[in-house]
Amino acid sequence: MEYIELGNSGVRVSRITFGSWAAGGWMWGGTEQNDAVGAIRASFDLGVTSIDTAPIYGQGLSEEIVGEAIKTLPRDQVQILTKFGMRWDEAKGDFAMKTKNNEGQDIDVYKYAAPASIIKECEDSLRRLGTDYIDLYQIHWPDKTTPIPETMEAVQRLIEQGKVRAAGVSNYSVDQMKEAETVLNLASNQVPYSMVRRDIEKDVVPYCLENNKAILAYSPMQLGLLTGKIKPGQHFEESDLRATHPLFKPEFVTRVNAFLDKIRPMAETKNATLGQLVLRWTLAQPGVSVALVGARNAEQAVQNAHAIDVQLSPQEVDFITNELNQLQPAK
Ligand SMILES: NC(=O)c1ccc[n+]([C@@H]2O[C@H](COP(=O)([O-])OP(=O)(O)OC[C@H]3O[C@@H](n4cnc5c(N)ncnc54)[C@H](OP(=O)(O)O)[C@@H]3O)[C@@H](O)[C@H]2O)c1
Repeated sequence: MEYIELGNSGVRVSRITFGSWAAGGWMWGGTEQNDAVGAIRASFDLGVTSIDTAPIYGQGLSEEIVGEAIKTLPRDQVQILTKFGMRWDEAKGDFAMKTKNNEGQDIDVYKYAAPASIIKECEDSLRRLGTDYIDLYQIHWPDKTTPIPETMEAVQRLIEQGKVRAAGVSNYSVDQMKEAETVLNLASNQVPYSMVRRDIEKDVVPYCLENNKAILAYSPMQLGLLTGKIKPGQHFEESDLRATHPLFKPEFVTRVNAFLDKIRPMAETKNATLGQLVLRWTLAQPGVSVALVGARNAEQAVQNAHAIDVQLSPQEVDFITNELNQLQPAK
């Protein structure tokens, strides 16, 4: 495995980090809890020491699964990356969405990052994770109703109390990062980035490179689309976000699969899967520190961890990028 420090925070993480959103089931058509624990432990055995989670993933379930999975692992060799600022249990802040929990009940989710709420969320996360500190604490989404400095002051207090090692943000723009940094030192920004979602290249990437901030690229396999296994018109459960996701429309899936066919021979010569090639390309992009990859079971997790063993020369990275640049974007 390869490891990298998040900014200058002193927190070192594995460049392939286990993403446990799907492990919590919510918006992914449910979960098989034992499989998820097995996936995290199998990843750790291959050097994937970092795990990303959030309270909203399964409304606490994903954090509990992570807590269960790391119970038998040495705490100082695991990095827990969790989040705050998405509340389903209190109707305050900036309304985000109406959705269903794993039991099929309606819930309203709010983006809310007022200081008292953060302090409470942190205690709840520590309890569910079964630990007394969080390695990276990230605001999940910007909250329009709370001034950014107020949010960051609360995180700074948690750092001073030893409950949090480093502060990160997620889905923040460059301006929002700058505002947060009037209060504290940010280690990272967790943002969407995949071969078919490259918007951050124009602003977040240059800013992070210039200011030594880590980029945690989320959904690098675009929710499984870039593994090549998705067929046009594939059926997903109603509670799976891919059922209505714009990047899963049949015409775009067809175009993506045609692109993947062009890079498949390269994967084959390297004895790699398409997903592994995709992850390696992602990690080769300027500024991308970590690929945050989700997996439902140990088999997927092992395959994803082994992506680090795939070597790509600069010419091979360019070949893939050139093919990719010919892919017409989704409408
Ligand atoms: N901060 C944010 O707002 C935010 C948003 C999204 C994600 N994230 C983070 O980023 C992590 C990763 O993103 P993601 O889970 O959305 O997307 P992803 O990593 O692009 O895709 C994960 C999904 O792809 C499929 N998959 C994974 N490995 C596979 C393999 N080897 N072979 C075949 N299929 C495979 C699995 O779903 P199936 O088996 O069902 O196909 C898996 O759940 C999340 O878990 C979360 O920690 C953060």
